[in-house]
Amino acid sequence: MNVLVTGGCGYIGSHACVALHHAGHTPIVLDNYSNSHPSVVGRIEELNGTPLTVYQSDIRDSKALARVFAEQDIGAVMHFAGLKAVGESVAKPLEYYDNNVTGTLNLLAAMREAQVSKLIFSSSATVYGDPAVVPIDEHSQTGGTTNPYGTSKYMVERCLADFANANSDWSITLLRYFNPIGAHPSGRIGEDPSGIPNNLMPFITQVAIGRREALSIFGNDYPTEDGTGVRDYIHVEDLVDGHVAALEKRGDVAGLHVYNLGTGNGVSVLQMVNAMNGVLGRDLPVRMEARRAGDIAECFANPAKAEQELGWKAKYSLTDMVEHSWNWQQSNPNGYQS
Ligand code: NAD
Ligand code: UFG
Repeated sequence: MNVLVTGGCGYIGSHACVALHHAGHTPIVLDNYSNSHPSVVGRIEELNGTPLTVYQSDIRDSKALARVFAEQDIGAVMHFAGLKAVGESVAKPLEYYDNNVTGTLNLLAAMREAQVSKLIFSSSATVYGDPAVVPIDEHSQTGGTTNPYGTSKYMVERCLADFANANSDWSITLLRYFNPIGAHPSGRIGEDPSGIPNNLMPFITQVAIGRREALSIFGNDYPTEDGTGVRDYIHVEDLVDGHVAALEKRGDVAGLHVYNLGTGNGVSVLQMVNAMNGVLGRDLPVRMEARRAGDIAECFANPAKAEQELGWKAKYSLTDMVEHSWNWQQSNPNGYQS
């Protein structure tokens, strides 16, 4: 099947293009390169052994979307395009609601016009806010988001639920990601944040490669085993396999489908640092700092529903995730600019 991959040049989208190809589908990418580098296209082509069709366009551009749907026989859409930096979203709420909410509504309208009725949406565990209990299952309360990025994901989920309700022949799947890390085992594609990384793993690998002096650990007084924040880190390869499983198992089933994509294991910041120290064979420089505003103590998934209904389960270990992140960083010290 031809699958339109919006944001297909980004971190997760690029891995999805490879996973789709290997599952026998044809990815067709639409990306405006606002947070990616055109050289990723050649890397995907190298891994897939075949040319990749790419439209350099914006999901907010209706004419561009209509052109893609007119030129390509699209069977389903995986929608990754959007802005994702929590801190930036506080400073630029309009840009976040415009890209993430307006962009998605625009995409939906173009799909309806083209009679393409299968959508897989990149949502986030952030829609659960500060969860009352962990592990978090799909029935846990959503909303209570603390920043415009999280609110934009929550708003899109609500819009898609209403749309699915009104269009009973559509299949819409919301995938709530926990914390994606890692890279393709080849080291040819991976996460390449611009500027100072917001997230833990790219910060750790940039310290390891010598681009940054030390890792700041944001808080060691949380009510967790070692006092540092606990998250459910999932290998990006497992994450994109979850998308292929959702497409294949739910794409032909009408309705709104919701799945957590996580491992079910909580890992603390200190455990992550220790895992990287083990892979490196040396200790990373770290310093304890105050808590980061808006952070929660613990967040990890109950991934049972995805296993039962999609036959999908995360396979990679924490060591694999760390090794693959480090392999990507070492092979590309300056990301795609290397
Ligand atoms: P990314 O920034 O690496 O990739 C997003 C891609 O979309 C980029 O290539 C960017 O150029 C493109 N893009 C952005 N706005 C666009 C627009 N208006 N039109 C066309 N292209 C546009 O991010 P990612 O980590 O790959 O995340 C992909 C999706 O998954 C996002 O929707 C993100 O919110 C969601 N998500 C990510 C995480 C995470 O930790 N990485 C966690 C939960 C959810
Ligand atoms: N952390 C540090 N130092 C750093 C960076 C992070 O100690 O330099 C800590 C954080 O305090 C937190 C943990 O590492 O305890 C993970 O932080 P990340 O920023 O990597 O991830 P978050 O869980 O805060 O947020 C991520 C995405 C959000 C998404 C959320 C849930 O950035 O967009 O996962 O999916 F909403």
